[in-house]
Amino acid sequence: MPDLFTPYTLKGRTLRNRIAVSPMCQYLAVDGVAGDWHNVHYASLARGGSGLVVVEATAVSPEGRITPGCLGLWNDAQAEALRPIARAIQDAGAVPGIQIAHAGRKASANRPWEGDDHIAPDDPRGWETISPSAIPFGANLPKVPRAMTPEDITRVRQDFVASAIRARDAGFGWLMLHFAHGYLGQSFLSPYSNQRTDLYGGSLENRARFLLETLSEVRAVWPEDRPLSARLGMIEFDGHDEETLEDAITLARHFRTLGLDFLDVSIGFSTPEAKIPWGPAFMAPIAARVRRESGLPVATSWYISKPEQANSLIADESLDLVMLGRPFLENPHWPYAAARALGRPDAAHVLPEPYAHWLARYRSG
Ligand SMILES: Cc1cc2nc3c(=O)[nH]c(=O)nc-3n(C[C@H](O)[C@H](O)[C@H](O)COP(=O)(O)O)c2cc1C
Repeated sequence: MPDLFTPYTLKGRTLRNRIAVSPMCQYLAVDGVAGDWHNVHYASLARGGSGLVVVEATAVSPEGRITPGCLGLWNDAQAEALRPIARAIQDAGAVPGIQIAHAGRKASANRPWEGDDHIAPDDPRGWETISPSAIPFGANLPKVPRAMTPEDITRVRQDFVASAIRARDAGFGWLMLHFAHGYLGQSFLSPYSNQRTDLYGGSLENRARFLLETLSEVRAVWPEDRPLSARLGMIEFDGHDEETLEDAITLARHFRTLGLDFLDVSIGFSTPEAKIPWGPAFMAPIAARVRRESGLPVATSWYISKPEQANSLIADESLDLVMLGRPFLENPHWPYAAARALGRPDAAHVLPEPYAHWLARYRSG
């Protein structure tokens, strides 16, 4: 029976344990380029002892950024700035992952601590947003996107491929496609945002087309020995949950046949009307069902913060990995804290030797 500290091998990569750092935007890039903040932030997280560190949503094109401070991978300078980050994560013993993303109709926003709303129309820092249909998200994000032309769709798919190549060449060992949280991939899938009447709208097959095409084109350039994953919003909590989930599971099976290796089960965030039942590990039973019915290995996040709970979700085979976000902001050494809480005799050695050597004596275990 695996536990939280059992290594996990997928394709040619072995994670030293089942703990992953979930992608978390830092909103501090300049022109999409990572700086000192990112270098220190990601190295610290990897030194905390997780098996996988997934670098935040990194935009495949300028208009795909959520905010002006988001990372990008649409040019080589951005890729060069990410290279030492991938290396630092790897040097610390974790697998370096990265999430590539396009924010669709939720792009052109202010940073969360500067309003978390769309940049005002007359503010030169903002830009035109694109989405499957000219339907705004609403609430704090009222900007009406431009409906994508077939040429836009082709171009954005190519942007995903070009970014995947840059991520590959910069040394990342795990790629995550962002198809969740109401951003562009999710917007194609969801009828809330996709009212197209062409091949990219209407039936599930049509609404899924952009995601499936993007996945198979990325798979063609992403090395076979490196895991390719996706984060998919599989439920909206809008009263149509069984239908949405069944469709998403059907899609996950398609993903698998096209070469997806791993699925991160998340929330759609396609409508501000959703009533989300926040609570400890509330997404875990949903992810466990997706795991059983899709045949894909899965992770989920959302309020998994207690070591005992994280451990039992791995031990009962609900999840293959736990993805933690805010617990790592609270304590970048969360895996060490978890090892201690779970009474592991070698807990200190979750951390690198310059820390572990002293803590092992100090805490005797
Ligand atoms: C500061 C912050 C930034 C985030 N940025 C991203 C992101 O770039 N991509 C993404 O898929 N999710 C993002 N999320 C969601 C997290 O990855 C995670 O799924 C969520 O916080 C729930 O996990 P938690 O309860 O362990 O924090 C972000 C969350 C936070 C708190």
